[in-house]
Amino acid sequence: MNRRSFLGWGAAGFAALCSSVAVSFGAVLRYLVPDVFYEPPQTFKVGKPADFAYGPPTFLADEKIYVFRDREKGFSVASAVCTHLGCTVNHFQSDDRFHCPCHGSIFAANGAVVHGPAPKPLPWFEVTLARDGQLSVDKDKVVPSTYHLMV
Ligand code: FES
Repeated sequence: MNRRSFLGWGAAGFAALCSSVAVSFGAVLRYLVPDVFYEPPQTFKVGKPADFAYGPPTFLADEKIYVFRDREKGFSVASAVCTHLGCTVNHFQSDDRFHCPCHGSIFAANGAVVHGPAPKPLPWFEVTLARDGQLSVDKDKVVPSTYHLMV
C-alpha cells in the first residue's frame, strides 16, 4: 500500500466514523424527545355562555376550574388547583371562599391566600369568546382576578 492509497482509506474511514457518530447522536436525540405529550391541552372550550348560571361558580372537574358568571362583570375563571400540593379546592358559597380539603388552606374570593400553607394565590385564567360562540379558557394565560369577559 502506497502513501496516497493509505491516506485515501484513512479519509474514507474517518468520514464513515463521523457519519456513524452523527447517526448515533441523532438516534439518541430522537429517543429523548417523546412522540406524544400526555399533558392535556391548555386551551379548551367550556360551553356557551347560556350554559352557565349566575351566582355560585360552576366547577368543571375535568379542567379543574371554576367558571364564575356575574351579572355586572361577566365571566371569570379561577383555577381549582391548590397552590400548596395540588389538591382540588372547594368553593363555598356560604363564605365565598375556596377551601382546600388536604391541608386546610383557605383562599379568598379573589384567590388570595387567607390561610396557609398554600404559598401563592389561586391563578385566574383568560377566558374569551370563540368564533363558534363558546367560552374558551387558556390556562397558559394567567390574568388578574379582576379580569372579566362581558358577553
Ligand atoms: S394541597 Fe391544599 S393545602 Fe396542601
